[in-house]
Amino acid sequence: SDKMAPEDMLFSYKGILYPITVCRPETLEVLHTFEARSDDVILVGYPKSGTNWLEQMVKELADAKYTEEEMKERINAEKKLETFQRLEFGDPGIYERMKQLPSRRIIVTHLRPDLLPPSIFQSKAKILVLVRNPKDTAVSYYHFYNNLPLLPSYDSWDEYFADFMNGKLTWGSYFDHLLEWNKYIDNERIMTISYEELKEDPILGMKKIASFFGFSLCEEDFSRIAKKTSFKAMKEKSSETHGKFGDALFRKGVVGNWRDIFSKAQNEEMYQKFQDSLGGTKIASKIKYDVYC
Ligand code: A3P
Repeated sequence: SDKMAPEDMLFSYKGILYPITVCRPETLEVLHTFEARSDDVILVGYPKSGTNWLEQMVKELADAKYTEEEMKERINAEKKLETFQRLEFGDPGIYERMKQLPSRRIIVTHLRPDLLPPSIFQSKAKILVLVRNPKDTAVSYYHFYNNLPLLPSYDSWDEYFADFMNGKLTWGSYFDHLLEWNKYIDNERIMTISYEELKEDPILGMKKIASFFGFSLCEEDFSRIAKKTSFKAMKEKSSETHGKFGDALFRKGVVGNWRDIFSKAQNEEMYQKFQDSLGGTKIASKIKYDVYC
């Protein structure tokens, strides 16, 4: 295959794995120099929680008041700076270039709060934390590893499952990620939303997001954006919007896909691990795990 050797694809930084083709140690080294602005919109999600979907939704919500022409200008500004607004991606120069982006910046990250630049918490920037049930997240990540040339492939689901449970994947442990974010859950500048609630009622989800960030939109805006950000619509445009990553990023877009691949024992193991690590926390209650047993 056209894949690199697994040991060349990943690197470990402060005990957490990252893919070498999208993140670099020297960038993580200067991450703390990122300067948050009070009007930044920060979007957070463990990989495969639906980050790209949320990003698209929030961009549309934030930009609803711009004309087509103004939107183009904003997008071109990003392109010219070669800065996609992923906090931990790219070369170490991104934090300087991000200073040149016009407000309101939308910044996306997969990082836990203990790994984020301190200015994010010192500023008044609001943070939206996206969560997804662990089983669908695990399945989505499995296919992502196997479908992307820049991540190692797994010979079997069982082997992968063990790594997911032990947090030996890029961006670390799903469970640690949620546990760390749970510490901030009562902060008024933080809101959590789940993949499942966005699937169930995208318009209601978007209304919650808009009210949290203070975006004002009319009913027609919400229904227009819901159509534009449906799985089908985003998948159709994926090669245009996400290039070679399109196919792997927009895979199924459903709730409950874990049923196709989890064994009964793995289902029980996951339930136990979820209870042991997150049981009783507020963030766990956002996930409504019981519904997916
Ligand atoms: P599946 O692999 O289960 O299909 P991320 O963007 O964080 O990498 O998450 C990717 C997951 O979000 C994938 O899940 C993908 O299909 C799903 N997704 C992407 N766009 C979506 C949309 N518009 N609606 C629902 N799910 C979407």
